[in-house]
Amino acid sequence: MAGKEWRQARWEEPLVNEYQGRRGGYTIPHGWEDEELARIVGEPWDRLGGLSRGEAPQLPGLSEIELVRHYTRLAHMSYGVDNGPVPLGSCTMKYNPRVSEELASDPRVALLHPLQDEDTVQGLLEILWRLERWLAEITGMDRCSLQPPAGAAGELTGALMIRKYHLDRGEERDEMLVPDSAHGTNPASAAMAGFRVVKIPSNSRGTVDLEALRAALSERTAGIMLTNPNTLGLFEDEILEIARLVHDAGGLLYYDGANLNGIMGIVRPGDMGFDIVHLNVHKTFASPHGGGGPGAGVVCAKGALVDYLPRPLIERRGDRFYWDYSCERCIGRIRAFYGNIAPLLKAYVYIASLSGVGLREAALQATVNTNYFIALMRGVEGYELPYDPERPRKHEVVYSAKPLHRETGVTAGDVAKALLDRGLHAPTIYFPLIVDEALMIEFTDSETPENIEAYAEALREIAEQARRSPEEVKKAPRNTSVARVDEVYANHPRTVTPSYRVHALRAKGLLR
Ligand SMILES: Cc1ncc(COP(=O)(O)O)c(C=O)c1O
Repeated sequence: MAGKEWRQARWEEPLVNEYQGRRGGYTIPHGWEDEELARIVGEPWDRLGGLSRGEAPQLPGLSEIELVRHYTRLAHMSYGVDNGPVPLGSCTMKYNPRVSEELASDPRVALLHPLQDEDTVQGLLEILWRLERWLAEITGMDRCSLQPPAGAAGELTGALMIRKYHLDRGEERDEMLVPDSAHGTNPASAAMAGFRVVKIPSNSRGTVDLEALRAALSERTAGIMLTNPNTLGLFEDEILEIARLVHDAGGLLYYDGANLNGIMGIVRPGDMGFDIVHLNVHKTFASPHGGGGPGAGVVCAKGALVDYLPRPLIERRGDRFYWDYSCERCIGRIRAFYGNIAPLLKAYVYIASLSGVGLREAALQATVNTNYFIALMRGVEGYELPYDPERPRKHEVVYSAKPLHRETGVTAGDVAKALLDRGLHAPTIYFPLIVDEALMIEFTDSETPENIEAYAEALREIAEQARRSPEEVKKAPRNTSVARVDEVYANHPRTVTPSYRVHALRAKGLLR
């Protein structure tokens, strides 16, 4: 249970590659040479003679029990949704139902190979065919490609589709509009697809500024990339007018579905006027993500845009399912084979177990959780709710720790570290960029009222501690497996991943 007395395990656990010299299910006593092994086992240890390599490969060498203990100790030092709340705004870190995990690891689907003959994988194709139809229904689109492996890949897919659509019509539209509240992957994907990104400012209500949008629209506009509810958790209530303006200018509307959890089963992007949608299947439909597994960024389209979806698409003739590779206008493939199947299977099970009514309830619960938290935060000093504080939020809320920073010098980053000390995962910080000292909090539908209360209480305590002794807050975290890290070292491309290469450099004294 989270709280002030919470402590995380601290094992002096080496990297797996630092374990050497053991094999399989048994262990060899230290110092025993190959001849001794050969004598006991009664076989020449090295049958390859001169062909064998001079040096042992640098593979980890652990016995089975050591391997189990290694990962169990690492698990003790880790934290995830199975430990406690992970209210990372924009990430939708919800509980991953075990039934989905179980079914997706069923050998009848888990052991299939993408090169198998279609006749031998009819069951899987039927599941994917059904999933595609459900996702089209949920988003208000006509067809979907299950290929893109993540949200950002979905965005790139959508941006490439928009580009090809305009080119096919002989129109040179090279500007993509992106609101300043957007996730960084939106402008990045648009730029990768060859567009010039035009930033649209938010108004004082935290939604798209219509005047600025009108001024930006021109015959160069290819489209707009929007998420609704936006990253502030606010519903873009002028979306129908936005759609009209963009369409009248000859542009298309792209929906970033990372925030669908706040509205699924209630309102559909297709009905709001969007032409292309990506879904973060790994968020909205409860597949593990982040360190937990691969993503799925399904892209759906309607009308003429369907022709531009990556191929192959799954089709049905009678009782038989097959991949259709015909591609007159499509953008081609976006990924090898058919996408990341495991998260798609988990999404299938999640949607089947909830049904349309359950999906709607999940969205309502996520919204209730956000607004319960906002109610608890009323009167907590040090944090302010920018942009229309009286307006209810949907799936998430973004506070600013600016007042606390001004008063005590304690930053949003320090608050996040102090939360870790109480056994609570940090929120997303410093995003969206339009909020100073941002704390972006999303409890999802999974979280309990008690944990939401504990989170608000922890934020109040941290603000009080910051006023009493800011330097103490700046020393957090102390109760975690790893204390405050050197942020440059932790983010530098050469050191960010404790890969074996980094380990080898460290062993040679070339890295600290
Ligand atoms: C609003 C928003 N859009 C897009 C993305 C990109 O999704 P992914 O991380 O799956 O590439 C994210 C990811 O956090 C997001 O929050």
